[in-house]
Amino acid sequence: MLALALLPLLPLIVALPSQQPFSTNQRINPLKHLSAISPFYIPTEKPTPLPDQCELDRVSLLIRHSSIMGNDDEYEETMKPFIEKIVNMDKSKIPQSGEWKFLNDWRSPIGDDTLEVVSPQGKRDAKFLGKYIRDQYNSLFPPKKKTTTKKDKKRTPYKVWTASSTRDIDTAKSYIKGGFPSHQSGHDGEGDGEVVQLIQVPNKAKDWDRSLTPHKACDTFDKKPSLEPANKWLAVYAPKVIDRLKAIVPEFAEELVDQDILAMQMLCGYESIAVGSSHFCQAFTDEEWLDVEYYFDVRFHYMMGYGSHLSPYLGMPWVKTAKHLLSGKDTDGSDGDKDHKPSDDGTLGTFKKGPKLPEPKLPPNATHTQLLHPSFTHRESPAFVAVFLNLFNSSSHAHPSSEAPPLDHRVDDRAWRTSHLVSFLGHVALERYHCKGKKHGDDGDYVRAVVNGRAEKMSGCEDGLEQGCKWETFDKWVDERAERWGDWESVCEK
Ligand SMILES: *[C@@H]1O[C@H](CO)[C@@H](O)[C@H](O)[C@H]1NC(C)=O
Ligand SMILES: *[C@@H]1O[C@H](CO)[C@@H](O)[C@H](O)[C@H]1NC(C)=O
Repeated sequence: MLALALLPLLPLIVALPSQQPFSTNQRINPLKHLSAISPFYIPTEKPTPLPDQCELDRVSLLIRHSSIMGNDDEYEETMKPFIEKIVNMDKSKIPQSGEWKFLNDWRSPIGDDTLEVVSPQGKRDAKFLGKYIRDQYNSLFPPKKKTTTKKDKKRTPYKVWTASSTRDIDTAKSYIKGGFPSHQSGHDGEGDGEVVQLIQVPNKAKDWDRSLTPHKACDTFDKKPSLEPANKWLAVYAPKVIDRLKAIVPEFAEELVDQDILAMQMLCGYESIAVGSSHFCQAFTDEEWLDVEYYFDVRFHYMMGYGSHLSPYLGMPWVKTAKHLLSGKDTDGSDGDKDHKPSDDGTLGTFKKGPKLPEPKLPPNATHTQLLHPSFTHRESPAFVAVFLNLFNSSSHAHPSSEAPPLDHRVDDRAWRTSHLVSFLGHVALERYHCKGKKHGDDGDYVRAVVNGRAEKMSGCEDGLEQGCKWETFDKWVDERAERWGDWESVCEK
């Protein structure tokens, strides 16, 4: 009874899902250092508040999908060879005591049949995110009350957009279930079609692909080349790990190659996602976790960060669309798809059959009558958007994100930290707000970028208070950058 009564008073951070306690000799929680394999967490305890005397007007939100049971490429290239090695290993080489003993009866929770599927915990995390976003932005949501009047019924539904991969759709549905009362969320999170509607944006559709999954429509986008610099760094740190293991479990360590070290560190993440914990999370030192985090930061610098010339081009469409939606010249009317309702057969969202959701009738930059615009997508998009918005790239930082990461040593004081940006449910918000009072000189309109709850400076658009930017400045700045990185067709053509 007492515990229940106290619950609402606990800070949000206590309620965070996915995080298990770790053994006491470890300082850091490896699950917060696994970049795109990090389960959902919110790096700051509370979202950065708006400056005093300011009020939110509109928000555009780009969210990566929730925790999956395994990524195809990481499985094929790295984890599967290690898993097969363990299965086929001469049993006498597997340690019989100590912290590696668990390998004797270890079974991989990851297999071909569940790759790319959102885990049950991932669904709970997305539901949690729905509540968390509702708490933060309640005034921008449609009212919770049941619709009664005719006028209410005629209202254009509030839309949640999702890329068309099943993992995005499943995440969006759980988010809707967390953020809306059950009479609005629909029985599976697809929305009731009246107040709330989940819209599926085909990954390869003409206008929409570019705002939610631009890389899927860009022929020159290639994930592979980024493996080369990342593996150079792996070749620096992994042999040291193998040497350390040779002193504890020599026969086992003899069998390992660099990729196996990476595999075990990835498995810490995916096994935790699948079954709640992993022995691998206890098997490495803090330094070794920081080394693998750097591996991912190197990889993603080149794949989807400042190290790829494509990144700002691929970040541009969402930001332009967000600016259009934030500009808010669209409060008057309907967007013409009232009769466009989701199917209500009970099979929505089952993995095999494929979900049946309405597709958008209008491109994202058309008129939409709502104040908070959430879209669900893949890891690449928040990173591209960060580059377009010039986040983490302040010239006053010792190692801004645009600077190439050295491959012979780790730079700890770096601005590019993908664990903070592209973890599962990692999200970037553009918030438009207005302020009153002397402190602000003029009353006025502002915008700021918020990454996983933390306000981040858009270098070059920073003439507002506390990391913010004047709306007018932002408006021009985005247009200038869109012009500079607007020729999407020619850079994406092979
Ligand atoms: C919407 O995007 C299309 C395609 O990029 C463009 O032709 C059109 O001008 C845009 N409309 C607005 C209102 O920005
Ligand atoms: C990152 O910052 C550097 C130094 O200020 C600047 O030259 C570069 O254009 C910035 N990158 C982007 C994508 O804006």
